[in-house]
Amino acid sequence: MDNEILLYHPAVFVVGADYQIIFLTSTRGLGWIEIDGERYTDEEAGLLYYGNVHKIPVPGEILNRAKRYTVVFVEYADKKPYYPEGVEKVRKEYVFRPLEADRENIRIFHFADTHARTRTPLELYRETGACDLIVLNGDINEHSYEIKNFETAFALASGSAQGEVPVIYSRGNHDTRGYAAQDLVSYIPTAFRNGRRETFYSFRQGPLWGLVLDCGEDKYDTNVEYGGTILFDTFRRRETAYLKSVIADKGKEYAAEGVKYKIAICHVPFVEHFSYPFDVASDIYEEWTALLGEMGIDLLLCGHMHRAYFIPARTADKRNAAFPTAVCSIPAVKREDGSEFYVGGLIELTPARRTAQAIPLPEVWEF
Ligand SMILES: [Fe+2]
Repeated sequence: MDNEILLYHPAVFVVGADYQIIFLTSTRGLGWIEIDGERYTDEEAGLLYYGNVHKIPVPGEILNRAKRYTVVFVEYADKKPYYPEGVEKVRKEYVFRPLEADRENIRIFHFADTHARTRTPLELYRETGACDLIVLNGDINEHSYEIKNFETAFALASGSAQGEVPVIYSRGNHDTRGYAAQDLVSYIPTAFRNGRRETFYSFRQGPLWGLVLDCGEDKYDTNVEYGGTILFDTFRRRETAYLKSVIADKGKEYAAEGVKYKIAICHVPFVEHFSYPFDVASDIYEEWTALLGEMGIDLLLCGHMHRAYFIPARTADKRNAAFPTAVCSIPAVKREDGSEFYVGGLIELTPARRTAQAIPLPEVWEF
């Protein structure tokens, strides 16, 4: 980055038909986005948020039409109760390339399980070539013990999307661990429902409709590893209710005009039958599998397993899914010379062919 104040390029996250542009600054102050002279802010209860993280909701139709935005940051060394003084330190324009409604060929890059790595995953991205949509699918960090860890997601988004293409964020189970895990919702896109920020939601980009799901932890809430700090059983039941609401509203969701591809993104491949102590929520995952089948999902895209494999629809020893699942992430594979490379995912959608690939592995799965 050419600016020491703006730590990374902004990440333009997609939630629903809209965006949440999030950027980090090395000093404290106020941040906002300008589009065609209009200012979009993170104002809540009349206050512009003061700090190092700036999470700005931006209407989809405005940014999709303008295809450019300006990031503005005004540094306030102090926010004293009277006469605080700000100095503009960042004003940077970005072009933006949303997926257009008539877009026929789409390339999606999938990062998951990077576990705090950025060098090898970004090397892979550069070798793969530019993509239209970036997916950060969980366990991007080792854990959330420190706020500093959240920068990994911004480093990956910045090095790939460069603020110019949309990014999808899906939380992983390691992201829920540690002191700062409760603050993660300020650093990631969220949907706001019934007084809560939620990490599961649908999204729409041109002909692509998607669903971001969050399994939470991979073991029981009562597992000693969590020390009584989590309540994912309640969370997952709320998610089931949300999935049912999506089906009830399908005309505005996956059955809306112009939807050609339907992809679900979830860190944990919940169509697997896991054994104790990982067999958590199997009744809920049975239900999710049925509900996603009812939606006619084309592909479930996952990480978590540190492996690369494909589960065709209706595979005998898995849950009875009407859709296939691609698991595409290996944190580090050793070469003979001792160096490491990262395995991520590439999804290519064209009218003639839809494929998933765990790159750089040669096998290509058609779905
Ligand atoms: Fe995981």
